[in-house]
Amino acid sequence: MIRGVILAGGKGTRMGELTKVTNKHLLPVGPYPMVYHPLKKLTGAGLTDILLVSGTEHMGDFVELLGSGKDHGCRLTYRVQDEAGGIAQALGLAELFCTGSRACVLLGDNIFQAPLKPMLDAANARPDWAWIGLKEVHDPGRYGVAELSGERVLSIEEKPANPKSNFAVVGIYIYPPDVFEVIRTLKPSKRGELEITDVNNFYLKAGRMGYSALDGYWTDAGTLDSLDVANELVRKQTPTW
Ligand code: G1P
Repeated sequence: MIRGVILAGGKGTRMGELTKVTNKHLLPVGPYPMVYHPLKKLTGAGLTDILLVSGTEHMGDFVELLGSGKDHGCRLTYRVQDEAGGIAQALGLAELFCTGSRACVLLGDNIFQAPLKPMLDAANARPDWAWIGLKEVHDPGRYGVAELSGERVLSIEEKPANPKSNFAVVGIYIYPPDVFEVIRTLKPSKRGELEITDVNNFYLKAGRMGYSALDGYWTDAGTLDSLDVANELVRKQTPTW
C-alpha cells in the first residue's frame, strides 16, 4: 500500500508580491492552479489516498479548491503545518496518515512532464528502500545534488557550492514506513530546517537508496523566474498525468 503526500506549505518568500495574499501553490501553471499538477500526477499513477500539508493561512483556499477530492477521483486529507520547518518536518506530519504504508511525496511546486508511474514501478521492486528522482540541470547548486556511480548514489549534498554532478534531486520521493522514525532523529540544518537531504542520506548510508532518472522536462516553480519557465514548458507541452 502506498499513500500520496503533497507538501504545499511555505511562505513563498521568493515570489515577491504574487504571494502577498495567496499561497504559491495556488498560482497558475498552464491552465491549472499549481497544486493540480502534483495531484494529477498522483491520481494518474493510481494513488487514491492523498494528504495535503499546508500552513494555516491558506488551508481554507485549498479545501475550497479541491474539496474531498471527489472531482479528482481521490480521497483528500488535509493537515495543518503550524510553522514552516522544512520539507522533512512537513513530511513528519504525515505519520498518522501513512501508518504502515509507504509514502509517495511530491513537493507542490515541482512541475514535470513524464508520468509518475514508471518511477513508482521501479521503487516497488525495493519496497524497503527510499527512492528519489534525478534530473540533469545546468544550475545544480540550487538543489540537492547526487553524486552517482552507475546505479549507485554515492552522496547527496544540499545546495553545494561545488556540486559533484549536474544531477539535481527533484521533489519526488518514495519512502518506506520507517521514514518517520528517521525524521525523528534529525537536527535542524544551518537554515533552521529539517532537511529532506538528511533523510535521503540516512537511506543512502544504510544501502537502501535507489533512483530513477526523469524523462522529459522538470522544473521547480518556486521563484518568479522558475514560475515563468514552468508556464512556458507546460504551454508548449502538456504534462502526461
Ligand atoms: C528543496 C530540497 C532540494 C530539492 C528541491 C527540489 O529545495 O531541499 O533538495 O532539490 O527542493 O525542488 P528548496 O525548494 O527548499 O530550496
